[in-house]
Amino acid sequence: MGLVPARARALAATRFPRIDCRSIGRRALQRPSRTQASLIQRFIAANSRLSAKFDARKDVALYHRYDRYVADAIDTLPPGSTLVDVGGGRTCSFASELAPGRGVRVVAVDISPEELAANTSVDATYVADVAEKLPFAEAEIDMLVSRTVLEHVKDVERAAYEMSRVLRPGGLSIHLFPCRYALFAIVARVLPFWFAKGVLHRLIPESRGVVEFDVYYDHCHPAAAERIFREAGFVRVEVEHTWDQAAYFHAFFPAFLLVLAYQRLCGLLQIRLLASYVIVRVHR
Ligand SMILES: C[S@@+](CC[C@H](N)C(=O)[O-])C[C@H]1O[C@@H](n2cnc3c(N)ncnc32)[C@H](O)[C@@H]1O
Repeated sequence: MGLVPARARALAATRFPRIDCRSIGRRALQRPSRTQASLIQRFIAANSRLSAKFDARKDVALYHRYDRYVADAIDTLPPGSTLVDVGGGRTCSFASELAPGRGVRVVAVDISPEELAANTSVDATYVADVAEKLPFAEAEIDMLVSRTVLEHVKDVERAAYEMSRVLRPGGLSIHLFPCRYALFAIVARVLPFWFAKGVLHRLIPESRGVVEFDVYYDHCHPAAAERIFREAGFVRVEVEHTWDQAAYFHAFFPAFLLVLAYQRLCGLLQIRLLASYVIVRVHR
């Protein structure tokens, strides 16, 4: 060891407060990103508020119309009838419309036991894949409905045959589903689904718990749906659709405006293939 001058020795003996350089670095990195995150959140919130002011939400109107069709049809069923909510999931959207003591049994069938476990709005639940086998005998069911389910089914043609098998002659079936050539559906099919879902959850927090299941959009457009239901033995096929889909783009006002113009153009030209949502009503 060399000789250390007295001043240097005194300096070495001084106790300086410990400075943790790594934590300074972390804080320096964190603070701007938190600020950025809150700026982005505020930007999205402001854009969403502005977009909402200009959005007529005909897609929401179509959902309400579905509930009304189902509730009105239930009113015509005799007591003791059975209605099946295919892909019933956690809740039955029209349950609140049912008059107490109507005597119509509502049964939810779903591929997911976890989803059904949360469903308290029906009389019974069954776990089954609609494209495999529904747990009912031929012509046992009086009415059969589904809301935002067919886009998740790999083989909708097979599902249509299975629903046709269990529905009694004359029985009504009503389905609401989004369509494969809607802009949001194209995005969901082109990008890895986990990624598209993650982005959507960030942009539209209400989509958590709703947009969760893998999508295939098999035969999910007006003409294809009409054809497969007819081929499966259904008659009096009625299809209603909307092109409304701009709500998916609320988070960025310029994109929302572009989509608004796009859906108006589709409506003007009546391009059914590009519909965003449909309701299909068919009789057995
Ligand atoms: C978006 S959720 C809709 C739930 C409910 N119908 C509603 O409107 O709130 C789609 C549901 O379809 C179910 N599902 C997906 N594929 C299915 C299949 N092949 N057979 C039966 N249910 C299925 C899912 O498990 C999920 O509960």
